[in-house]
Amino acid sequence: MNTMEITKVVGGLAGALLVLLLIKMGAGMYYFPHGGHHEQGYTIATEEAAPEVEVEAVPFAEVLAAADAGAGARVFNKCKACHSAEAGVAKVGPSLFGVVDRAQGTEEFGYSDTVAGLGGTWTVENLNEFLTKPSEYAPGTSMSFAGLSKEKDRANIIAYLSSLN
Ligand code: HEC
Repeated sequence: MNTMEITKVVGGLAGALLVLLLIKMGAGMYYFPHGGHHEQGYTIATEEAAPEVEVEAVPFAEVLAAADAGAGARVFNKCKACHSAEAGVAKVGPSLFGVVDRAQGTEEFGYSDTVAGLGGTWTVENLNEFLTKPSEYAPGTSMSFAGLSKEKDRANIIAYLSSLN
């Protein structure tokens, strides 16, 4: 054997070893989670990752059940310039006293045609949708408010508004 041949053989062996090592690593990653005390770490990681994907799948009623009316009262600061929480007191917008489960657009107030024509009920689901982006739920609404992008804020304020009923 000359030097060239020895180099080739050594190189070939090293390559084969590397392939074996990679296969072992791959198998290790695959089987590790199922082995003994490593299982717990694996399960926790899965549970933590899941809500990120399924955030939309949690029914709003469930988010609402965990809502905090006290925190909602603070979110209401964003509405106060235009809305009163007192019955019958209209400001820039209609009174929000008792608005949960109230018929849409029925206060003594000069509503836009859109809101006046909604004809439904302010259920918690409708409020959730409206407050996400008013201009999308009620195109042409006179409520100049961008919306509450955080579901938690919406749940909290709806809990607060429910507490006024
Ligand atoms: C810049 C003023 C303004 C702000 C801020 C504002 N609103 Fe309004 N809101 C209005 C107006 C005006 C209307 C009437 C909309 C229409 O007729 O199109 C209205 C209508 C509503 C209605 C429908 C009531 C009904 O009787 O049908 C709800 C519910 C409501 N607002 C909730 C909120 C909440 C909750 C906030 C705070 C997160 C908020 N609004 C912030 C001006 C405002």
